[in-house]
Amino acid sequence: MKYALVTGGSRGLGRAICCRLSQMGIPVLINYQSNQAAAEEVRDEILSHGGSATLIRFDVSDQKAVSEALEAWEKEHPDDYIAYLVNNAGIRRDNVMFMMPEEDWHSVINVTLNGFFYVTRQLLPKMMMRRHGGRIVNMASLSGLKGMAGQTNYSAAKAALIGATKALSQEAAARNVTVNAVAPGFIETDMTKDLPQDELKQLVPMKRFGKPEEVAALVGFLCSDEASYITGEVISINGGLY
Ligand SMILES: NC(=O)c1ccc[n+]([C@@H]2O[C@H](COP(=O)([O-])OP(=O)(O)OC[C@H]3O[C@@H](n4cnc5c(N)ncnc54)[C@H](OP(=O)(O)O)[C@@H]3O)[C@@H](O)[C@H]2O)c1
Repeated sequence: MKYALVTGGSRGLGRAICCRLSQMGIPVLINYQSNQAAAEEVRDEILSHGGSATLIRFDVSDQKAVSEALEAWEKEHPDDYIAYLVNNAGIRRDNVMFMMPEEDWHSVINVTLNGFFYVTRQLLPKMMMRRHGGRIVNMASLSGLKGMAGQTNYSAAKAALIGATKALSQEAAARNVTVNAVAPGFIETDMTKDLPQDELKQLVPMKRFGKPEEVAALVGFLCSDEASYITGEVISINGGLY
């Protein structure tokens, strides 16, 4: 059976993506780092709709934790593989660069970029070996495309993720594995709840923040059979804000 793994699947965009993939009939592994209650809520919601969902806890920036958790899952599921990977886990530690603590630079790069590397490298061999291939969707950001003041760490990590998406798409294409990135603008989640929303909405041509379900619909499409010839793309979803 083909499974989906959504990193940071317990809240915000990840939660909506887990629900969307489950609606598409895909069994989902919900990764999270610390918020067990939120992760259980997503699992219960999926189960209550007749879907299949399992929690898988690890810190994506901890290489050892990533390989231990995924190897354990693979051992328990010798006939299955993770065919859909959504690298969604991310954090924000905003500050102007001259005041940015070194730790905040590294933690954002570690979760977004190194996390992508650790999880994807672990799952790629199985995905590339199977006849049905796979789908990788990386959660980038408008910040990674245009650069955002106060977010040099986050912008750098997301821009690097976009570069990695384009490079990996070329390595994996012949094995029917597509690799794409999604670049949201402002979306209503915990990550944006402390921002001055009324001010920021005025910058968006659509005058509103996006909903997690709107991003999840795009990720669902990229994971579907219909998207089989799309790879190496970065698709913006931002209400017209560039
Ligand atoms: N919201 C936006 O406007 C926006 C815009 C552009 C891009 N994005 C990107 O979209 C992604 C999701 O953002 P969001 O707004 O949904 O964020 P969120 O509401 O803050 O949720 C973050 C999720 O990531 C998980 N996570 C954080 N660090 C992790 C780690 N080291 N290992 C495993 N899981 C970890 C969290 O798990 P716990 O519950 O255990 O903490 C949570 O499930 C991020 O990559 C973000 O950069 C968001």
